[in-house]
Amino acid sequence: MPAHRFILNGQTVSVEAPEDLSLLWVLRDVLGVTGPKYGCGVGVCGACTSHLDGEAFRPCIQPVGGLSGRAVVTIEGLGAQGLHPVQQAWMDEDVAQCGFCQPGQIMAAVALLKRNAQPSDADIDAAMSDNVCRCGTYVRIRAAIKRAAL
Ligand code: FES
Repeated sequence: MPAHRFILNGQTVSVEAPEDLSLLWVLRDVLGVTGPKYGCGVGVCGACTSHLDGEAFRPCIQPVGGLSGRAVVTIEGLGAQGLHPVQQAWMDEDVAQCGFCQPGQIMAAVALLKRNAQPSDADIDAAMSDNVCRCGTYVRIRAAIKRAAL
């Protein structure tokens, strides 16, 4: 099996895996990085949302073979130096209910705020609409993003 080297949360990692194995399984089952969640496996729910070279992406549809030299950040990396302001806002607004989708929600929110430091409600709804929350925490997600943007 080929070895794939990429940067994960600031550290270079090398993983032997089939080229077409999705990064989500490499993260969760090979590297033990379980913040990105498995919801749908086909890129539609957002539970696995992480960052690739600073942009939000979905590891469940990213083959590990395409990652050579690229930088992946998961929720674990986001909080590695202490709580990120978006994580703090999530706690302040008591966003999580069951919590399953929240790592992906937070990573999507961080990417949004990097692109748009003062998003409107419409901007937030547009950016976050592909991150599904079965508990319906959308109102608190919007409030937390606004709090983090202050
Ligand atoms: Fe990746 Fe649903 S598990 S988008």
